[in-house]
Amino acid sequence: MKTLISGGTVVTAIDTVPADVLIDGEVIIAIGAPGTHTWADEADKVIDATGKYVVPGGIDPHTHMELPFGGTYASDTFETGTRAAAFGGTTMIIDFAVQVKGESLIGGFDTWMEKAEGNCAIDYGMHMIAGDINEQSLADMDILIDRGCTSFKLFMAYPGVFYSDDGDILRAMQKAADTDAMIMMHAENGMAIDVLREQALARGETDPVHHSLTRPASTESEAVHRAIVLSELAGAHLYVVHMSAKEALEEIAEARDKGLPVFAETCPQYLFLSVEDHVSADGFEGAKYVCSTPIRKREEGHQDALWMGLATNDLQVVSTDHCPFCMDDHPILGTQKRLGEGDFTKIPNGLPGVEDRFQLIYQGGVVEGRIDLNRWIELTSTAAAKIFGMYPKKGTIAVGTDADIVIFDPEAEWTKSVAQHHMDVDYSPYEGKEVKGRVDTVLLRGNVIVDGDEYLGAKGDGEYVPRARVSINH
Ligand code: URP
Ligand code: ZN
Ligand code: ZN
Repeated sequence: MKTLISGGTVVTAIDTVPADVLIDGEVIIAIGAPGTHTWADEADKVIDATGKYVVPGGIDPHTHMELPFGGTYASDTFETGTRAAAFGGTTMIIDFAVQVKGESLIGGFDTWMEKAEGNCAIDYGMHMIAGDINEQSLADMDILIDRGCTSFKLFMAYPGVFYSDDGDILRAMQKAADTDAMIMMHAENGMAIDVLREQALARGETDPVHHSLTRPASTESEAVHRAIVLSELAGAHLYVVHMSAKEALEEIAEARDKGLPVFAETCPQYLFLSVEDHVSADGFEGAKYVCSTPIRKREEGHQDALWMGLATNDLQVVSTDHCPFCMDDHPILGTQKRLGEGDFTKIPNGLPGVEDRFQLIYQGGVVEGRIDLNRWIELTSTAAAKIFGMYPKKGTIAVGTDADIVIFDPEAEWTKSVAQHHMDVDYSPYEGKEVKGRVDTVLLRGNVIVDGDEYLGAKGDGEYVPRARVSINH
């Protein structure tokens, strides 16, 4: 089956060119100037992309479908979450398999692979949350790397749950250095935060806003600094997830300027939401915006610093940390965020975003003049493919690569709302936001899976993508 996408402007991390794209089966076989070929004669299907951008499918390297957290589960399953991702222009996620204390690394990985297999609308990879570092876990890392899971997430936060101490972190980093694996770090000083949380509750400070206030920027920047020191000691690659504080970003910039193989991401929630406008909302509404690292105060300048970091490559990736919990209305999971009414420490941590990211970065970045079109694609697709070992199969439009393609209408104007999204969560953090630019058509390995408002794919279209060891230093 041959498909021709004609008349559009192909945008990659490098180029913006008028070009037609010919697909045979699952891969791109030719890219050529319009009017210089006769591909329409041989194509089974022609998609007219006149006036549209033809871009690589988004890659979201940080999602948590079905994550157990705080006595409940993230409300999107692999089925619902990946279908929503497709509507939002994302054709691959990397989710996190979970090892909890007392369980084996391999057991956790197999459990997550079973949840994903046969259920995904788009392609997927797995990182591994290593929640119990011991001799066996370290040995098991070799087996997972051979199975294409080449990145391991550690937590300096959440004592008693996923937390690792500095000794365990150093041991895991040494193993990663020996095996060319990536260490991903949730960098917050969890021990200090626990003290601040206890003290806040003792003062009667129970509202959602105290989640943000008991995780000050210094608890993030200190942890980022410590993670960098430990990774340098071990000689490991480090990727810091969900960065939200400008002071923490300064630590990343300093490490990269020294030439260390340190990478970092931020997420849309830290670029668009604030304590002033969202977390401190009346009543319990602020619970919608409780996540860790926290949403911070706009007046402190974090958002501006993060956008600048994205423009200057101090930050390399925008992921989502998609981890939705309902406020009022989930038929099975109930009123999840309300578990923390009267005690902010019990609010499940996480926000939806997998469907929003691709367009929101176009909006805040390109429409609002902070980055150009090529950087938009680099931040939402190409850089993740390179850092996590799947480039050029994924993350670009080139001859021989997977035909994961989004046709994007740059002129469409619309208003974001829970009423139109496909994520299995009963609110949108961006409700009422007016935006420009919309995903029109989505192809996964050559098959049209989204056409406007219509879903044409099927559960199980998505395949597991084994990833290579880390081979990028900057
Ligand atoms: O609030 C968050 N980030 N929830 C998901 C778990 C994590 O720490 O990534
Ligand atoms: Zn985290
Ligand atoms: Zn996460």
